[in-house]
Amino acid sequence: MNSTWNRSSIQRKKCPELGDTAMAQSTTTAAHPGPALNGRQLRLWQDLLEKRTGVQVVRRQENGIRTQIVRRMAEAGWTDADYYFRSLDTASGAREWGVLLDRLLVKETRFFRHQPSHEFVRQRIASLASDLESPLWLWSAGCASGEEAYSLAVDAAEGFARARREDNYYVVATDISKDALAKARRAVYPGAEPSNLPAFLGRYFYSHGPNQVAVDESLKQRVAFYAQNLLDKDNRYLNQMDVIYCQNVLIYFKAWRRRELINYFRDCLKPGGCLVIGPGEIADWQPPQMVRLDVPGVQVYQKRSQP
Ligand SMILES: C[S@@+](CC[C@H](N)C(=O)[O-])C[C@H]1O[C@@H](n2cnc3c(N)ncnc32)[C@H](O)[C@@H]1O
Repeated sequence: MNSTWNRSSIQRKKCPELGDTAMAQSTTTAAHPGPALNGRQLRLWQDLLEKRTGVQVVRRQENGIRTQIVRRMAEAGWTDADYYFRSLDTASGAREWGVLLDRLLVKETRFFRHQPSHEFVRQRIASLASDLESPLWLWSAGCASGEEAYSLAVDAAEGFARARREDNYYVVATDISKDALAKARRAVYPGAEPSNLPAFLGRYFYSHGPNQVAVDESLKQRVAFYAQNLLDKDNRYLNQMDVIYCQNVLIYFKAWRRRELINYFRDCLKPGGCLVIGPGEIADWQPPQMVRLDVPGVQVYQKRSQP
């Protein structure tokens, strides 16, 4: 048995706000098999995750979520799932929530994940590039570890090259996961060699040791990463965007939240700006003040110039 499970002192240290009685009750006896999570407790976590992030846990993900929570409890010295749960609502719970959240979210991503959407962005940038008074702004919303954001930066650079204009763009990339953002800022990616990349990508990446590539500084300096919870719908800084790119994020949200987020994205676009989502991520609904563009294989909406 893991010796940390018997340490009530750890519990007390972790969460003074719950008081000693709670801590004493959460201490295991020698016979206790260690942290566990029953169905009722799992539902509490699912509800909390959805309330705080919008992310729904579907049935096939339940075991994975349960495993992550139990593993984290053991690591942090918690034995009672109810006390651990309640601790997150205390002042010291915010940090722990951040740690746990990083384990619960799906952060799967890759470069140029949906090729037709990236080709659309290149064409769009090329068509805007020739007549610019100010830089173009692109936003990768739910960028995970940065591959999507750097792909958008490549799209923009290629768009400017097609239009034979100097680069004049920035990419803002946001995610709720601090872990993912740290990887994104580092911009070193395993599992690739520059020689395996399509030739045109060679100038954007360089070899960073065996089987790793790093993003070239010229691209990196055009991309800025920020922590943001999309549910906050903050648009103090994220406004007047030319392109908003949000793929494989809305799929985790309920239909009504997807619609709310699309309305939020619209408000963050310039008139004439485009929102690119994943194919099929919203169906049977026409976002107000936007028109769906007819681009095969791509789900893209343009904000009307006049409301
Ligand atoms: C499956 S990844 C998709 C990454 C990338 N967009 C792509 O298509 O490859 C989903 C990302 O959405 C982020 N996410 C989930 N809920 C979020 C929220 N409420 N606010 C911001 N980001 C969120 C997750 O942290 C994760 O990095």
